[in-house]
Amino acid sequence: MKMGLLVFMRNLLLALCLFLVLGFLYYSAWKLHLLRWEDTNSVVLSFDSVGRTVGSGRRERKTVTLVLLPSIPSHPAVDPGTVSAQKEPKEPVAAPGPAIPKYDKLGFLLKLDSKLFSKPAPMFLDDSFRKWARIRDFVPPFGIKGQDNLIKAILSATKDYRLTPALDSLSCRRCVIVGNGGVLVNKSLGLKIDDYDVVVRLNSAPIKGFEKDVGGKTTLRITYPEGAMQRLEQYEKDSFFVLAGFKWQDFKWLKYIVYKEKVSASDGFWKSVATRVPREPHEIRILNPYFIQEAAFSFIGLPFNNGLMGRGNIPTLGSVAITMALHNCDEVAVAGFGYDMNSPNAPLHYYESTKMSAIKESWTHNIQREKEFLRKLVKAGVITDLSNGI
Ligand SMILES: *[C@@H]1O[C@H](CO)[C@@H](O)[C@H](O)[C@H]1NC(C)=O
Repeated sequence: MKMGLLVFMRNLLLALCLFLVLGFLYYSAWKLHLLRWEDTNSVVLSFDSVGRTVGSGRRERKTVTLVLLPSIPSHPAVDPGTVSAQKEPKEPVAAPGPAIPKYDKLGFLLKLDSKLFSKPAPMFLDDSFRKWARIRDFVPPFGIKGQDNLIKAILSATKDYRLTPALDSLSCRRCVIVGNGGVLVNKSLGLKIDDYDVVVRLNSAPIKGFEKDVGGKTTLRITYPEGAMQRLEQYEKDSFFVLAGFKWQDFKWLKYIVYKEKVSASDGFWKSVATRVPREPHEIRILNPYFIQEAAFSFIGLPFNNGLMGRGNIPTLGSVAITMALHNCDEVAVAGFGYDMNSPNAPLHYYESTKMSAIKESWTHNIQREKEFLRKLVKAGVITDLSNGI
């Protein structure tokens, strides 16, 4: 009997030790992970309903009041759009608190600090990317699973993972995302756009010949292979070339580009892609895929589809860029988003003559849902819409 008890006690102690060791390991891994995210120069942002700046300090802080769309997408009974449009949602999405009216007519929280954009999230992947739990377990476009070796190879060539030191050290970083919309035509916003510290442009939208309306400065050009400019002379000097990787081929393509190797055309792209990008490796970056994931599932409310690419769950590059900016800029403006419904003859894009009526049903995007997302951001004063198309 006594022996039995002793053995039992010994086993119990062993089990306890194991438990403690595991617990400690888990805890340290978590701490390490937190450090990685916080190690960046990212800005802590939150907003209030009118976009007023509250508080002071080196970095401006605002307080947020945007209702997060539930990330239980495509549930027929719970349409995130309708929920947020109700006056008094039955289930408050966040903020347990005193029973004061929490929502305005548009479904915006009236008074609440939200963690919406306060989570630091680095703009670009750096050499610690494999520790980033938020993207590790998702395959592209929502994460990097399966891409480790390609990304490692790319980063070992680019070596730089940040903006310029000057931009990184700004105490108030103002960013503008320039969309490609025809709504920019004849608005002479060029100078206003160039006045921002960081000017983000998307895909192959050119600036030569359009400077008056869209400006002449480019800090980041974010693109995927099919969207990249194929005419080398259109690339701006002094700009970063940033890959938004939507599928594994995209990372493979960037590796060819960085190492100036021959791009093989058979690689599963849906249209012809650029085979060269006139940028040196240190001017090339990989956009943190977390912004694609967060834009899709947390902000816009697209179908989760088990974290895989599926019908209507890919956010447009514009929304992804805005999400990136909300985490990394103190002030975010957009231009060239949305359409001016009063001028149906306006071009779809500012740089070509295709008319708006040419808009096709999209398999990958949910334009309507994105429009609602952008409207909320503008209405809440979280972003400024320079061309009034949203
Ligand atoms: C822009 O202005 C030019 C010159 O005045 C005009 O010809 C053109 O139709 C305008 N475009 C739009 C979309 O308003």
